[in-house]
Amino acid sequence: AEDGYDLWLRYAPLEEASYATPRHVMAACSDPSATIDAALDEIDRATQSMLGEALPRADTLQGGTLVLASPECSGMLENLPLPSSYEVGVDGYAIKEIRHSGRQITLISAQSDIGVLYGTFDYLQRMARGQNFTGVNIVSRPKTQLRLLNHWDNLDRHVERGYSGQSIWDWHRLPGYLDPKYTDYARANASIGINGVSLTNVNADATVLTPHYLEKVAALADVFRPYGIKVYLTARFSAPMELDGLPTADPRDPAVQAWWQDKANEIYTYVPDFGGFLVKANSEGQPGPQDYGRSHAEGANMLAAALEPHGGNVMWRAFVYSAEEPEDRVKQAYTEFVPLDGQFADNVLVQVKNGPLDFQPREPFHPLFGAMPETPLMMELQITKEYLGFSTHLAYLGTLWEEVLSAETHATDQRAPVASVIDGTAHDYEITGMAGVANIGSDRNWSGSIFDQANWYAFGRMAWDPDASAEAIARDWAELTFSRAPEVADIITGLMMGSREAVVNYMTPLGLTHLMGTGHHYGPALWVDDLGRADWTPYYYHKAMKDAVGFDRTETGSNAVDQYAGPVAQKWAGQDTVPDELLLWFHRVGWDHELDNGNTVWEELVRRYDLGVSQVEDMQTVWHSLEHEVDAERFEQVSAFLAIQHQEAIWWRDASIAYWQSVNGLPLPEDVAAPA
Ligand code: GCU
Repeated sequence: AEDGYDLWLRYAPLEEASYATPRHVMAACSDPSATIDAALDEIDRATQSMLGEALPRADTLQGGTLVLASPECSGMLENLPLPSSYEVGVDGYAIKEIRHSGRQITLISAQSDIGVLYGTFDYLQRMARGQNFTGVNIVSRPKTQLRLLNHWDNLDRHVERGYSGQSIWDWHRLPGYLDPKYTDYARANASIGINGVSLTNVNADATVLTPHYLEKVAALADVFRPYGIKVYLTARFSAPMELDGLPTADPRDPAVQAWWQDKANEIYTYVPDFGGFLVKANSEGQPGPQDYGRSHAEGANMLAAALEPHGGNVMWRAFVYSAEEPEDRVKQAYTEFVPLDGQFADNVLVQVKNGPLDFQPREPFHPLFGAMPETPLMMELQITKEYLGFSTHLAYLGTLWEEVLSAETHATDQRAPVASVIDGTAHDYEITGMAGVANIGSDRNWSGSIFDQANWYAFGRMAWDPDASAEAIARDWAELTFSRAPEVADIITGLMMGSREAVVNYMTPLGLTHLMGTGHHYGPALWVDDLGRADWTPYYYHKAMKDAVGFDRTETGSNAVDQYAGPVAQKWAGQDTVPDELLLWFHRVGWDHELDNGNTVWEELVRRYDLGVSQVEDMQTVWHSLEHEVDAERFEQVSAFLAIQHQEAIWWRDASIAYWQSVNGLPLPEDVAAPA
């Protein structure tokens, strides 16, 4: 059944095989590793499905053989031209049609077995998209080293901000029962280059660090290992107190340091290639080093010292803000972290959300990107759509991430786009990475909806290449997931490409932000003004009054704009130079403030809400045109979800406009200019 379980690895039957489709497959070694075996299994599975029968295994080289080779796996064939590490790095790969010993072969090769597995997945996905392999010559090398999913999964299987069922980690049945799903999960991740998984919620429970749970963690790590995926855990800073009754968790206390060292040593006895800790500290009530007057760097470095002998890393999150702080919430991370630049140990990365607030439909890029040249910064993206309609609203996030990654920080003499900070080139970072908060749960389709699978897919692709095109990724996904017929793939790609902007339009146009329902973040709550915590209160973010709306983040206000490099700050600080998309994020203006297209702010807001609703209507029309191109099961589910989205886009528009009118007393504009 087309229930979405197979994700983008459906391997739909090919009508006709490419001329250069191989006739047999062999690994260039007699005793392949588990990773090469996984690649061979995937080739079996995929060719069985696409070609009607699995490629036969060859023992000797023949014409038309698909050969898998790496330095570890090359004993059977002499003088294979393996790519240099200069070309492919540790885990990149080359796919080439070559002549070897007088035979025409296709060679998938790398500097490591995992590179070969990545190359195999790429090769099979290209085959699934109907690519012609004649003369194929592909070299791909990831631009980042650590490409992680962050699961916000609790040990009771509730998933924080999860909209696709319960946690897929069935702690109760682990380690005895290894659900085959875990292997499919690993395959899916490896197919897009993801090489790490943090299993547990950042709002951490120290229990996962106890032996009973470490056994379970080890069982998962064993499943993932052949797929090149390392396991990470979230470390609760107060764990020494909670688990072993230490009187303090002060990072300067030698007993605390020793506790973490012992704990790290213990973890590595269970998981010899454990990746390390992800830490949320002194944020939203979580314990941390500041509880003892110590800095984030001191806290991170204590954990880093414990992991260092084993090769593990600390990912220390910069998502910090506090209710007591009088400072504008979007400024706090920069204020706390920039002075610590250069103080973190070598195996620490600071993990920064894409924007300074919290995964909103649109935010400017985080001002820390470009501001910490001595500290490797990872980017954290949210794949699960906490603020973009959970799993029913269709919102392809590739465009959101591309917008952030291509934004120019002007941090160096070059324009230094955010992507160049993340891939390490802007500041010569020694370690690099990207993390995505997973949208995966126990739902049969993994992500809660078919289109949300595209966000998982796009995350992996962009972590591999932060300069990748959101549109090219959407098209690849559409071809793999729905149809390689160009008309169908075009339509679906178009639908995806406009989808996130539609959400921005009906939820938070013109730079408005954080207007969602209290706690759950679903639906509009612009009018909420009395939560007792300004930083969680919608009203605080728009401060609408009779004459004006928006948050002044220029010199006359919080001056958050000053945290950006000169040219960026200058552009955004001017009411006439800031792009309309960020106007009310940085400025407080009159409802009658005139925009470039001639509309007043009030007129433009109303126009954009309307536009958002009509964009969803267009999405419905377009989707309905695919009724005979898409299987009934997925067609119906997407149709039903679009109907929910339509209803809720109207809810957002009408509730928002009614609220603004209750404040500004303005009538609905009659004649609103068409889109610029
Ligand atoms: C958001 C989210 C929380 C989460 C937090 C975080 O605020 O609503 O559920 O814990 O981000 O990233 O730590």
